[in-house]
Amino acid sequence: MTAEVSQDLIEAGRGYEELFVPALFAPWTEHLVAAAHVGEGSHVLDVACGTGVLARRALAKVGVAGRVVGVDPAPGMIAVAKEIEPRIQWIECAAENLQLEDGAFDCVVSQFGMMFFDDRPKAAEEMFRVLKKDGSLAVAVWNTLDENPVYQDVVALLQEHVSNRAADALRLPFSLGNAEEVFDCVQQAGFAGVQSATRFEKGKFRSARQMVEAELRGWLPMFDINLEEDEIETVLAASEKVFNKYAAHSGEIEFTTSAHIITAQKG
Ligand SMILES: C[S@@+](CC[C@H](N)C(=O)[O-])C[C@H]1O[C@@H](n2cnc3c(N)ncnc32)[C@H](O)[C@@H]1O
Repeated sequence: MTAEVSQDLIEAGRGYEELFVPALFAPWTEHLVAAAHVGEGSHVLDVACGTGVLARRALAKVGVAGRVVGVDPAPGMIAVAKEIEPRIQWIECAAENLQLEDGAFDCVVSQFGMMFFDDRPKAAEEMFRVLKKDGSLAVAVWNTLDENPVYQDVVALLQEHVSNRAADALRLPFSLGNAEEVFDCVQQAGFAGVQSATRFEKGKFRSARQMVEAELRGWLPMFDINLEEDEIETVLAASEKVFNKYAAHSGEIEFTTSAHIITAQKG
């Protein structure tokens, strides 16, 4: 319940929605709803929904005859998702233990969450369980850091100016970059027609400073890495040189992001 969620978690959720969602995550939603064949009247589940950007895109497609549910174990994310779109059903639960009935959905979608799951095979089994027969699955995971070079540069910056642990915290989102593990989990869960496609999108921040600050203030604290203000300033000053090569005249940073989209059906 929103009333029981601490203000800090709600602020962290709002920060995620403001800093990361438009810059990195929103552009991928259209790929996912298309890959899972979300259409008028579909019943759709978004797993690891965060603040709900993908579920909101699905809602716009399904119309009044459809149903959209978003699940995430982070109470701050769910609280903010509810604030933004009360017409979606938001449930605080993990992918490994979906609090949902068998065979309820035509489409299950999940973007950029699977690398954080404790038990990925179990999560894939749960996604299979809640799908109807002939239902569709679409899961996105980031490609490797080599294929997301701007983040390769941010990792190197954290390694040089913060710590190994900080660099590792940013390596984690790219840790399923060869897509094989996801492919295998999905296949072993019983899905048919499993396929993986590599896709590209644009990432965009107002400035290099804003991009790196999002990581320092928004991402590292999730791993209990809380920098002092003078450390933050040192990293930000160093970042301006590193990221000049990505900057437009306006100062905006625009770059290509790469991800794998794994699709399958419940045969
Ligand atoms: C990078 S965010 C992506 C959120 C959202 N899909 C988006 O595109 O903005 C990763 C999300 O995975 C969630 N997550 C972590 N462990 C999870 C688990 N075991 N089951 C479901 N979600 C999980 C986090 O709480 C977080 O909201």
